[in-house]
Amino acid sequence: MLYPLSYGRSLKEGIGRGSRIRTCDPLLPKQMRYQTAPCPARVRKAGILFGRGRPVENRALSGPETVCENPPPRVGLRAPVTAKILDGKAVAQQIRDELKGRVARVRERLGRSPALSIVLVGDDPASAVYVRNKLKTAEEAGMGIAHERLPATATLAATLEVVRRFNQDPSIDGILVQSPLPKAMGADAEQQVFDTIDPGKDVDGFSPISAGRLVQNREGFAPCTPAGVIELLVRSKIPIEGKHAVVIGRSDIVGKPMASLLLHKNATVTICHSRTRDLPAMAREADILVAAIGRPAFVTRDYVKPGAVVIDVGINSVTSPEDARRIFASHPDRLETFERRGSVLVGDVHPDVVEVAGALTPVPGGVGPLTIAMLMANTVKAAELRGR
Ligand code: GUN
Repeated sequence: MLYPLSYGRSLKEGIGRGSRIRTCDPLLPKQMRYQTAPCPARVRKAGILFGRGRPVENRALSGPETVCENPPPRVGLRAPVTAKILDGKAVAQQIRDELKGRVARVRERLGRSPALSIVLVGDDPASAVYVRNKLKTAEEAGMGIAHERLPATATLAATLEVVRRFNQDPSIDGILVQSPLPKAMGADAEQQVFDTIDPGKDVDGFSPISAGRLVQNREGFAPCTPAGVIELLVRSKIPIEGKHAVVIGRSDIVGKPMASLLLHKNATVTICHSRTRDLPAMAREADILVAAIGRPAFVTRDYVKPGAVVIDVGINSVTSPEDARRIFASHPDRLETFERRGSVLVGDVHPDVVEVAGALTPVPGGVGPLTIAMLMANTVKAAELRGR
């Protein structure tokens, strides 16, 4: 791996082991960007130099400049960035903007806005935040909302009763029951809830009818997170057809539908999971690598082929100082967030993968905003299909 270094004044004089050379990290504030460090052993003449955006190997070499093969120790410097950061927030905004006209047309036709109902059972703090964000986004998009809260002690029967009521309510287009449900409801409670939701209102795409339609590539509701990933890839002009996509994780909510959607875009798809043998080697085969395993910083640099597109579906909260220091050793800004808040978010992908990948979704601000945007899109679609 080549590390880009500026050569300062030493090109003519020649530089070698022990010379002072300047290192550049374009992500740091100006006053910290250039630092000097002893030149490591091997220095050779080559072209190119620094800049964010692309691996050094990808640049056309032009003119003699200096590149080191062994970087000097980076004292408190952030790791060099090579990956293009895929801006999920911007794409989500684009999708929400495009929905405005469709919302207005539904209003004209039905005499009301598309309407989403959300059922939250129990008091899981993360679920409460997710639900609040979904309701807020729906309201901002001019949609109708209905919010039903049930206590953690609610029975499965009571929850199913609420779902049936929304199924029959003609003023509701979409129904979402936030998961996870309280454990006390039983192991197959979610399954029973998904079985009960009217497939025409299944904006989460979790019902068996939706899952079957998706596998058969028929019209229906795709689960929001994998559908959002496809939108992000397509709108970021990342080719999918003919590429090898590796999905790590086989959940019904993300892994399996993600694989179907990639397949329908003509990728060659491999699904990996906890029993996959030599997972890093499998992952390194990927042109597009999707990490959806729910384990913080699990996918490290050795899982990633240089230049691969890496999609991080995980959102994990790091609360231990040791974990924060280990994971974010080269990312002082994130460590600072941890110091300030006592926690910091990390995906399923280790932050240092930014040095290897060709493109990467950040956490937060990558896949998360797209999930909500696609929920809005599915709700508008449900309203458009009503009575058709
Ligand atoms: N819990 C976490 N993500 C989701 C989601 O997309 N839908 C539902 N219903 N529950 C979730």
